[in-house]
Amino acid sequence: MTLPVRVFPTPDALAPTVAREIAARLRQLVERRREAVFVPSSGRTPEPVYRALRDDHANSLDWNRVHILQMDEYADPDLAEARTFRAFLQRQLLRPLKVGRFTGLRTAGERADAIRVAERIDLVLHGIGCNGHIGFNEPGAPCGDVLDSVMLTPQTMRSNFGNRMEDHPRPIGYTLGLETLRKAGHSVLMATGAHKRAAVGRLLGGATIDLCPAAILRDAPSAEVVLDRAAAGQAYRASAAA
Ligand code: GLP
Repeated sequence: MTLPVRVFPTPDALAPTVAREIAARLRQLVERRREAVFVPSSGRTPEPVYRALRDDHANSLDWNRVHILQMDEYADPDLAEARTFRAFLQRQLLRPLKVGRFTGLRTAGERADAIRVAERIDLVLHGIGCNGHIGFNEPGAPCGDVLDSVMLTPQTMRSNFGNRMEDHPRPIGYTLGLETLRKAGHSVLMATGAHKRAAVGRLLGGATIDLCPAAILRDAPSAEVVLDRAAAGQAYRASAAA
């Protein structure tokens, strides 16, 4: 399928809309069913959306009935807890919104639970790596199992931890696999900033999954892309001209 794309002027301009839509989807799900399973990116891109969820939607739904499943995590056991994706999600969403349930990926027990929860994902909010990765599914990775143990590329490590190699944990991670992410009820992929323009160009330009893992979302049951102008580049000019 062709992924629907919306382009906003800036990250701050898109955040209220995306936050409102996420809150509305989760609210509908928790009203219809016992819980909603939400997989939010642990990247920096959605931080303005998480701020808008905290500021404007803490009371828009019963967050106690939301179950957050972690998308990816570092596997280095020596990584300081504060630098884990789990800690990021705790700061951004779990504690401030009083989210009812959380399944992480740090321990073997959590990972066993994650494999079960991953079969019923309602909503995923993705970022995208500069090399087109989603979760920690790097280019060339197999579509894989529900949960994969993976090697992270130097580019991903630099992007997440900076250029000083001595600050990096071991480049290993856990990630929900591409096929599992594809099957989610609805997927939103967010990209902001000129450094994401090449990855967005590959995604929207028809690159294969091997080259751009995010391309698997073209075969998702329901998916959309939300960009700022800087990330959209050519794609924005093309859609503006159409
Ligand atoms: C990181 C994470 C992904 C995230 C992506 C973009 O490595 N593993 O889950 O979506 O890369 O991150 P950021 O938004 O910080 O650029």
